[in-house]
Amino acid sequence: MAKVLIATDKPFNSEGVKKIRNVLEGANYDVLLCEKYTQKTQLIEAIKGIDAIIIRSDLIDKEIINAADKLKIVVRAGAGYDNVDLESASQRKIVVMNTPGQNANAVAELALGMMVSVARNNFNGSSGTELRGRKLGIHAYGNVGRYVAEIAKGFGMEVYAYDPFVPKDLMEKDGITYIDNAHDLYSTCQYISLHVPLVEKTRKSINYTLLSKMPKNAVLVNTARKEVINEDDMLRIYKESDDFRYISDIAPDCKDEIEKNFAGRFFFTPKKMGAQTTEANINAGVAAARQIINFLEKDDRTYQVNN
Ligand code: 3PG
Repeated sequence: MAKVLIATDKPFNSEGVKKIRNVLEGANYDVLLCEKYTQKTQLIEAIKGIDAIIIRSDLIDKEIINAADKLKIVVRAGAGYDNVDLESASQRKIVVMNTPGQNANAVAELALGMMVSVARNNFNGSSGTELRGRKLGIHAYGNVGRYVAEIAKGFGMEVYAYDPFVPKDLMEKDGITYIDNAHDLYSTCQYISLHVPLVEKTRKSINYTLLSKMPKNAVLVNTARKEVINEDDMLRIYKESDDFRYISDIAPDCKDEIEKNFAGRFFFTPKKMGAQTTEANINAGVAAARQIINFLEKDDRTYQVNN
């Protein structure tokens, strides 16, 4: 019987785990759990003898891959796979997949929720502002960006997007304004919502040049990865403009400095929360289980992200 390990230091909710189990055990797979582990060595032990692994943001590096003696497939139940060493996996002929779109609505709802919160001064009792009529720029128009656009239109926002990989007519069909370069997006929009994946090219790419173009009362919304921000540049922007705000799903490395010097101009979740909904856990987890079965039984490589 093939063994599937669910390895999540931030576990799926119990309903999600139950549904993943149902799919896999119903197809005669053995399901093992390694949840809330605190040491890498626990994962190194747990991965031995495992055929397939379902993870979230869990770090799968060379050492873990080399400890996996039977592993054939890693499925990252979620979108971003910057936590997996693709090269080491490829060297061992281990397939890596993600489950694109499955948790996208949850992340988009968090982005809009944080925007409402910051517009109302984090509900501190003072008078805030509204989102209706404000300009929102979506930086990267993928699965999350599309949901953000849809919800933002419901709020009456003017929605713009920049994504070098998405054609103009597709954005126009969605009723949003196509922008053909990042600089124009940042200079047009009071709110910018980031959805760029973390790759070498995007690391620290949200820099002074872009941020300094933003209009008054700028709000940068980050439900992507903290590493896409150039934090030194962002601190410079904080110092130069007294109204810039940063709201992020997970605190930046420069959290202490922002908290100390820029009270009321930030909001950070205590840990990555975008995909922390029952629905997202079930959708991404069950999709991962099905992808494992389809790969092991039919060599279906849809959603493979390594070569
Ligand atoms: C993703 O890349 O899918 C999101 O960042 C969610 O990550 P998580 O499953 O670790 O919460």
